[in-house]
Amino acid sequence: MQTLIKVENLVKRYARRNPAGGQEELLALDGVSFEVLAGSTLAVVGESGSGKSTLALCLACLEEATSGSIWLEGKDICKVAEKERREMRPQIQMIFQDPANSLNPRWRTLEIVTEPLVLRGGISRDEMKKQVYALLGRVGLPAETAKRLPCELSGGQRQRLAIARVLALEPKVLILDEALSALDCSVQAQIANLLMELQGALGMTYVFITHDLGMAAHLADEIVVMNGGRIVERGRAEEVLREPREEITRRLVAAVPRLTRSPLAPIGR
Ligand SMILES: Nc1ncnc2c1ncn2[C@@H]1O[C@H](COP(=O)(O)OP(=O)(O)O)[C@@H](O)[C@H]1O
Ligand SMILES: [Mg+2]
Repeated sequence: MQTLIKVENLVKRYARRNPAGGQEELLALDGVSFEVLAGSTLAVVGESGSGKSTLALCLACLEEATSGSIWLEGKDICKVAEKERREMRPQIQMIFQDPANSLNPRWRTLEIVTEPLVLRGGISRDEMKKQVYALLGRVGLPAETAKRLPCELSGGQRQRLAIARVLALEPKVLILDEALSALDCSVQAQIANLLMELQGALGMTYVFITHDLGMAAHLADEIVVMNGGRIVERGRAEEVLREPREEITRRLVAAVPRLTRSPLAPIGR
């Protein structure tokens, strides 16, 4: 497998006001480096405030890194000219914890999934409609959901819709920031299985961000553990879960709710 993303010494500083009214700097990413192989899943795990979302936003070009590089297929997305960046951006898509952030509440499912196809252009209205229904089928949404507004769908269905919309853009990389965290256990397992099925069928590459080490181990090939804006531990998913080396990782393992009784199937890869 080839390296699809290479992150090198990524630093992100935020300026924020201190209680005395002055400015202070917060180092949200403190020299993060990793690689993701094409078609694989990297899980980024860490407690709240460890810098996971900042990393996600930088990868998706929604925040500008202070320094460092993000290479996508050998091109540094932080350094390419604006025109080229606009072309590269759709190749990295993001799914959030709350799909309400990415779904227009006034649009019906049909319109939500049609929009990216219109933006891509080059196909007829009829062909678009066909593709929308194919995408809905692909993510396990019944055809009749095409008429529904996001608020008329369940949490799991809304996350399926967010996935269908993103698939319409044919990204190479999908960044999932706590995408399953708000869902019930059984729905989490269903969406996790959908993600694995899509990866098998489409060869997608995932950066799966979560505070849930159990879910990370279920989905990922490799895990990196973040603490204070740094990667403190990395390894094959099952090894990190079985033999955590760092105190912070042990805490995350301890927080995994009774692994043996988890509704997820055993790791079969
Ligand atoms: N827009 C921002 N402005 C200032 N500080 C921020 C901003 N976003 C995140 N931070 C800070 O950066 C650190 C990392 O946050 P975040 O990346 O959201 O962590 P996580 O997703 O792991 O919970 C936290 O201390 C947070 O308060
Ligand atoms: Mg976060």
